[in-house]
Amino acid sequence: MKQILVFLTAFFLLSACANEFKTHKNIEEDYALVPKPDALEMAEGLFELENGCKISASEGLHNESSYLIEMLGARTGLGFEEASKGSIQLLIDPSIQAEEGYSMEVTPSSILIRGQQAQGVFYGIQSLLQLLGEYPLEDATVFGVPAVRIKDQPNYAYRGMHLDVCRHFFSVEFVKRYLDVMAMHKLNTFHWHLTEDQGWRIEIKKYPGLTEVGGYRNGTIVGHHPGEANDNEKYGGFYTQDEIRDIVAYAKERHIEVIPEIEMPGHSSAAIAAYPWLSSFPKENTIIGNNMMSKSSRSIQDAGINKVVQETWGVFDDVYCAGQETTFLFLEDVLTEVMDLFPSALIHIGGDECPKGNWERSPACQERIKNEGLKDEHELQSYFIKRIEKFVNSKGKNIIGWDEILEGGLAPNASVMSWRGTQGGIAAAEEEHKVVMSPTSHCYFDYYQSEDRDKEPLAIGGFLPVEKVYAFDPMPAELDAEKAKYILGGQANLWTEYIATESHAEYMLLPRMTALSEALWTDTAIKDFEDFKVRLQDVREDYDRLGYNYAKHVFEDELNEEK
Ligand code: ACM
Repeated sequence: MKQILVFLTAFFLLSACANEFKTHKNIEEDYALVPKPDALEMAEGLFELENGCKISASEGLHNESSYLIEMLGARTGLGFEEASKGSIQLLIDPSIQAEEGYSMEVTPSSILIRGQQAQGVFYGIQSLLQLLGEYPLEDATVFGVPAVRIKDQPNYAYRGMHLDVCRHFFSVEFVKRYLDVMAMHKLNTFHWHLTEDQGWRIEIKKYPGLTEVGGYRNGTIVGHHPGEANDNEKYGGFYTQDEIRDIVAYAKERHIEVIPEIEMPGHSSAAIAAYPWLSSFPKENTIIGNNMMSKSSRSIQDAGINKVVQETWGVFDDVYCAGQETTFLFLEDVLTEVMDLFPSALIHIGGDECPKGNWERSPACQERIKNEGLKDEHELQSYFIKRIEKFVNSKGKNIIGWDEILEGGLAPNASVMSWRGTQGGIAAAEEEHKVVMSPTSHCYFDYYQSEDRDKEPLAIGGFLPVEKVYAFDPMPAELDAEKAKYILGGQANLWTEYIATESHAEYMLLPRMTALSEALWTDTAIKDFEDFKVRLQDVREDYDRLGYNYAKHVFEDELNEEK
């Protein structure tokens, strides 16, 4: 009798979240997914979510089922639990072909998500969460998922977003929100720009000055470069190593790899302010151009302390000295701590915008050029990067750098992030180096979103509307099939000179990031901007529900067209 009761109870619970409602007729709008999946077949009926709904998961998918339970609970207010048999099933299935691929089958009585690996299952979960909606039935509104069959996989393996936390600092909570919205869009790489002229943001135990001194500037220019004044306000912040570990773990739960960027040899004023011996000219004053230096920094320099953290934007001559051994020892120490914190296979070493003037004047750098048989300062930059690469490789990792690392000869195992157009990326792929495309033309989210600049918050310049981001394809036509394999994917960058608040950062990010996700995930053959705009309306509801700020131009354009 007891067994029958247990059986009946189990039957009741299992069917409780799987009633067949015939009153909702599924329509195309119920299936708005971004990024658009490879193949989607609508079907009849609705899977209704009810309290006590059970979720079962293959071994190794505990992280995914916990995530799903948490997300479903937050969305519906209902309770869900893991069980050995559930009407929602998460499965590892080696027959799924693509590494990040998944399939999803929703019927009125079950949901089955299968992935070759946990990552694919996670993307199936994202699709499930996007399909989940509120459906008004005869006497109540229910949370349901329309019946469907989906087969899906990404077009590109590297789908990245960058965030500059140096020009302006962003809280741990914000970085997590950033990762959340990336995960929602099946983006898998977070490029975290952690060091700059205007602030060093990562705690390094061996060099506490990096954050104690380099983490704060004495003021910031007001208005667009070259600036109208200095605000004379101390500004800064940094992440402790515990916070970094927390964020890396949070990202991992969302199948996002975090690639840290430690800039070198340029963009290094904050480190030099902390440890002036990193400069070729420790006794020369930091120059803050156009008479824009803060009062505090002026007093500090009057008192004989030469180096201060930068307060204006741009490219600066005071860079790491490539002549002295101490520079390399310092960077090796820093990178050792960084590599302990970040499990990523790639470490970003910057490499962009390093003026060579100081190296030309520096006896130590000139001696290095002579001793190493280098032709000029460009080859000295190449020497610098190759030496760092050797060290990073010795720890089992590889470097990636901005396309300037091509100048003077590419380090043997380096990957290239092409930002000054795609030419650098094409050249690197021709040389059989891996490439991430991130051209300013399509991927710089610090650019204006409207040509009507007066109505926009101050931005660095440019014009990058959603439609142009959507048109981005990292694959250049110039490469043959063999060399095309080196194009890993693409990334958009959020540089924050003119982005001081979290809500402004979200405004610059969304909905352009949503367009980026489809540009990188969806097969170019099925991309269609008009169709995307329709599905974007649904994503907009998610932004609203989750409290993300976003730019409205693309929605307003739609309204104007309708008028
Ligand atoms: C860059 O925008 N300087 C990589």
